[in-house]
Amino acid sequence: MSWWWAGAIGAAKKKMEEHDKQSKYKSVALVIGITGIVGNSLAEIIPFSGIPGGPWKVYGVARQPRPASTSHLPIEYIQCDVLDEEETYDKLSKLNDVTHVFYVAWDKRSTEDENCVINGTMLRNVLKAVIPNSPKLKHICLQTGRRHYTGPIDLYGKYHVQPHDPPFREDLPRLKSSNFCYTLEDVLLEEVKQKENLTWSVHRPGLVFGFSPFSSMNIVRSLCIYAAICKHEGEPLRFPGNRQAWEGYWDASDADLIAEHQIWAAMSRRAKNEAFNCSNGDVFKWKDLWKVLADQFGIEHYGFQETEEKVPSLVEMMKDKGPVWDNIVRENGLLPMKLSNAGAWQFVDSVLSGKSLLDSMNKSKEHGFVGFRNSKTSFNSWIKKMKTHNIVP
Ligand SMILES: NC(=O)c1ccc[n+]([C@@H]2O[C@H](COP(=O)([O-])OP(=O)(O)OC[C@H]3O[C@@H](n4cnc5c(N)ncnc54)[C@H](OP(=O)(O)O)[C@@H]3O)[C@@H](O)[C@H]2O)c1
Repeated sequence: MSWWWAGAIGAAKKKMEEHDKQSKYKSVALVIGITGIVGNSLAEIIPFSGIPGGPWKVYGVARQPRPASTSHLPIEYIQCDVLDEEETYDKLSKLNDVTHVFYVAWDKRSTEDENCVINGTMLRNVLKAVIPNSPKLKHICLQTGRRHYTGPIDLYGKYHVQPHDPPFREDLPRLKSSNFCYTLEDVLLEEVKQKENLTWSVHRPGLVFGFSPFSSMNIVRSLCIYAAICKHEGEPLRFPGNRQAWEGYWDASDADLIAEHQIWAAMSRRAKNEAFNCSNGDVFKWKDLWKVLADQFGIEHYGFQETEEKVPSLVEMMKDKGPVWDNIVRENGLLPMKLSNAGAWQFVDSVLSGKSLLDSMNKSKEHGFVGFRNSKTSFNSWIKKMKTHNIVP
C-alpha cells in the first residue's frame, strides 16, 4: 500500500471515530469548578446513563491538576484559571460542542467588594469565551447561595446588614449591601443577551453536605477531621457552637440533590430564566447529627457543654493540632493534607455561632422539582464517603 493511500485511510478512520464519538452524545456539559463540593457531584452524576438529556459528555474545569479523586470519572479535565481572561478564552473558546454550562465555582477573598470583583470577572471570562463559540449552547446554570438573603457573614457569625427573616423565598428583594451573589446574577443576565433563546437558572443552596477534599467551605469534611482528632486524643466531641445552633431547626443542601436540581433546570421548560432555592426539604437539629458524627468515629462522650465563657471556637481548639493531624495522616495512610487546608474552621465557627436559617422549596416544587433528601442520612453518607476516599480514618 502506498504511503498516501495508508494516510488517506488513516484520516478517514479518524474522522469516522470522531463522528461516532460526537454522535454518541446528546448533550455536552461544561462544569466550571469540577473539583468543588457540587462540582464533584455533577461529575459523578451527569455521565450516568439514564440522566435526562443524556448521554452526556462532560468537560470539567478547575485550576489544580486533575485530582486522584476524579480519576475514575469519564470527564475531560481542563486545567484553567478562569480569572485569567486570555487563558480562559484560549482554552474554553475551542469547546464548540458545549450545550449546557454548570457554573459552580467561587474564589474567596478577604472583603465582599473583592469577592464581587473577582467572582464577577471569573464568570464573565467564562461566558465571553463560551457563548459566542458554542453554537449549540442552550442553558446556563449558575450556583450562588443563601448569602443572597443574608448578605456576607463575619468570622463570629455576625451579618454586615440585617438579613431577611427566614424562611427565605426567592422573590425577596435584594439587601442594601454588596454581595457577590448579586454581581454573579447581574453578569449572567448581561451576558446571556449575546445569544437569542439562551436560557439560564440560578440555584441558591444553603449549607452544603457533600464530598470535596479541597473546598474552603465543607462542613462535613471539617467536622470529620475535628472528630478524628478528638478520637485520637481521647477527648470528648464537644459541639463548637452556641445553644441556639445546638437546639434550633436547621436545613441543609445535599450536593447530589443540588446537582439533580441543576440538571432538572437545564432540561425542564418550566425552570427557565428563574432563580430557585435548593435545600433538602426537611429540618434537623445539630444535637441529632452530633450523635451520628460521634458514632462514626467511635466517640463515647459528646455533646453541648454550657459555659459562662464565649462559644467554643474550632479556630481556637485546632490552632496547635497540626502535628497531631500529621500523625493521624501518617498512621492511617490518609490523603496527605495539612490541617490548615483540610479544616475550614472559620467557616464552621461562623455557621455554628450563628442562628439557624431555613428556606422554602415551594417555588421549586411548584415548577416541577420534587427531589428531596433526608438530612441525617445525607450527613451520614458523606461521612462514609470521606472515609472511603481516605480523607479521614
Ligand atoms: N459550600 C457550601 O456550604 C455552600 C453553601 C451555600 C452556597 N454555596 C455557594 O456555592 C458556590 C460555589 O461554592 P462551593 O463551596 O460549592 O465551591 P467549592 O467547593 O469551594 O469549589 C470551588 C470550585 O471552583 C474552582 N475554582 C476556584 N477558582 C477558580 C478559578 N480561578 N479558575 C478555575 N476554577 C476555579 C475550584 O477549583 P480550584 O481551586 O482547583 O481552582 C473548585 O473546583 C459559591 O457561590 C458559594 O457561595 C456554597
